[in-house]
Amino acid sequence: MTTESTVTDPQTPTPHIRSFVHRRGHITQGQREALETLLEKWSIPYTPKPADFAALFGRKAPQILEIGFGMGETTERIALARPDDNFLGVEVFNAGVGAMLKRIEESELQNVRIIQHDAVEVVRDMIAPDSLAGVHIYFPDPWPKKRHHKRRLIQPPFIALLASRIAPGGYIHCATDWENYAEQMLEVLSGNELLENTAQDYAPRPDFRPQTKFETRGLRLGHGVWDLIFRRK
Ligand SMILES: C[S@@+](CC[C@H](N)C(=O)[O-])C[C@H]1O[C@@H](n2cnc3c(N)ncnc32)[C@H](O)[C@@H]1O
Repeated sequence: MTTESTVTDPQTPTPHIRSFVHRRGHITQGQREALETLLEKWSIPYTPKPADFAALFGRKAPQILEIGFGMGETTERIALARPDDNFLGVEVFNAGVGAMLKRIEESELQNVRIIQHDAVEVVRDMIAPDSLAGVHIYFPDPWPKKRHHKRRLIQPPFIALLASRIAPGGYIHCATDWENYAEQMLEVLSGNELLENTAQDYAPRPDFRPQTKFETRGLRLGHGVWDLIFRRK
């Protein structure tokens, strides 16, 4: 069930339509325990003011933001492959956050931190302008019904906000297995004056992005997969 209401955060004046709905999905015992014991260790609480990520990660390094890491398979693999980058994963879903916390411990990842909060507010309130080296948004919820398209994350106002947080020369990398959403992404990203496409339109999947479970499922269902990589001018 989805609700059509616009949600207003009492702390912030600007209401926005959420790109997610809270769900009581299944959570394993291990994920629940990870949430109880590890959240404090590896997560950064949402606060409505710019955060000092170098201090929070304990080092200054290129800062990559991932929005909606799901169960965290991709985050883990990329963070392991790129130890010199700091990865900030933002996700709202309890089971996903629990799963990511377990991965951080089991793989002894030092370069990943989590914020469990709406990414729109995290970007707006906690991330300083011109500060991100990269943004990853992989398989965001496609909201396939037309009346739900307004919930899609990739829309002009949010991309304008996000682009302003990317440092000149930094990148935004999106992927989807929904053709209609891929077209929307291409239109929205191409329409932003701070961004330029690194490809003619869609980009080949870069080696650093592993094929995810969502992607494998999409390919099995006969969907294509589209990657988009734009650079901040
Ligand atoms: C379809 S899943 C994809 C997960 C993962 N990126 C992958 O490729 O497997 C999209 C995820 O984005 C999360 N999400 C959606 N809107 C969000 C928001 N505004 N802030 C944080 N997470 C969000 C959802 O909870 C969900 O886990």
